[in-house]
Amino acid sequence: MSKLVRLSLSIEQPLFEQLEALVDKGGYTNRSEFVRNLIRNRLVEEEWEGDAEALGTISLLFDHHARGLAARLTHKQHHFAGKVLATTHIHLDEHLCSEMIMVRGQAEDIKQLADQLDREKGVLHAKLAIGSIGKRLS
Ligand code: NI
Repeated sequence: MSKLVRLSLSIEQPLFEQLEALVDKGGYTNRSEFVRNLIRNRLVEEEWEGDAEALGTISLLFDHHARGLAARLTHKQHHFAGKVLATTHIHLDEHLCSEMIMVRGQAEDIKQLADQLDREKGVLHAKLAIGSIGKRLS
């Protein structure tokens, strides 16, 4: 673990009260843990803005009766062979399926895959959760 550095900062009273409420609502044990999380989340956003190597999870919801859709979704993922780490398929009911696709690669490539899957006819919802391979976060 890295050496700890203490810091103090000045913010307006209403903002401080909002900070305290967020720390409390988030169930953080202290302000430091909350601020660490804020910084790490910002660093991950920067990794994505800068097209760094990243980890992403794409969640899809689709109707498997849509003609040829399952094959098209698989076909798109094969274009990212070696980058798609795992795909989990869940049969939600008679019609609907969900897939969680974990991808490691350049941020722009992952976004492109998520966009391509989202545009497929029959996909009802697609959402990319941005993650990190953690090089800058410790
Ligand atoms: Ni299914």
